[in-house]
Amino acid sequence: MKGLIAFFSGTGNTEYLVKFIANEFEKRNIECELFNVENNEELKDEYDFYIFASPIHVEVFAKIFTDWLSSKAPEVDNKRCILLSTQASALGYGGRQVSKMLERKGYNIVYMKSISMPNNYYLGKFKATTEEKKKEILSEVPLEVSNMVESFLKDEVYIEKESLYVTELCKLVYKIYMPTLNKFAKKNLTIDEEVCVKCKKCERECPVGNIKFDEKISFADKCIACQRCVQKCPVNAFKYQGKHFKQLKL
Ligand SMILES: Cc1cc2nc3c(=O)[nH]c(=O)nc-3n(C[C@H](O)[C@H](O)[C@H](O)COP(=O)(O)O)c2cc1C
Ligand code: SF4
Ligand code: SF4
Repeated sequence: MKGLIAFFSGTGNTEYLVKFIANEFEKRNIECELFNVENNEELKDEYDFYIFASPIHVEVFAKIFTDWLSSKAPEVDNKRCILLSTQASALGYGGRQVSKMLERKGYNIVYMKSISMPNNYYLGKFKATTEEKKKEILSEVPLEVSNMVESFLKDEVYIEKESLYVTELCKLVYKIYMPTLNKFAKKNLTIDEEVCVKCKKCERECPVGNIKFDEKISFADKCIACQRCVQKCPVNAFKYQGKHFKQLKL
């Protein structure tokens, strides 16, 4: 038996989770291939089961992930799948957002859950997760994952309840909020020239090619506010509205 885990991860939380999941399957001699949807490749139906995972952006799945799911995830014939979100709060509304589309593609969603992870979006009015809460959240991941894998292998079904009404509302809010997200970097971010080592990691790793680094950094208008550049700069050179901040470390 071989599974595929297709994921998007802006700053590493979702990647942290899916690596745990792959490892948990491997402990049971089941291979799980990891596939980052940023590769933007179309996949063939070569797997016995599928796991899809992405962070929640503005209460629903990030667009980069839903775009890949709808255009590049393979059509299958009744294959079992797990659908996961990571988000700062207890519940995300990603599942219902894409469940109909996945069913149309032939997936049988047998496990659907939103998993709480530390908040990566706290530049501005939102709050960072405290160190204490972060420890608590991360300490729950191993049990969460092993229960999930056990449940899946026993052919059980677990579908987290999400309101269709709230999901539709969140989709609308995300759409309305998108132009603001697109300008997130341009409007708010600068870099501290004395700290930046000009490695260009930010330019290389922006998932939507929104950063250009010639002599100076510049941003286009297609940012998705994923927070990768600011959280993953190796020397924390970014400033938000002119001020330095503490990066999220798992
Ligand atoms: C643009 C943006 C919007 C977000 N919106 C929400 C949200 O509505 N609700 C929530 O609980 N977390 C929200 N988050 C937090 C992330 O979903 C959470 O930290 C996630 O685990 C990040 O995963 P990643 O590191 O794989 O990108 C948001 C993060 C970003 C970057
Ligand atoms: S990742 Fe950080 S250090 Fe590297 S070029 Fe970008 S801002 Fe400068
Ligand atoms: S500019 Fe930064 S926040 Fe915006 S999409 Fe690129 S990496 Fe993400």
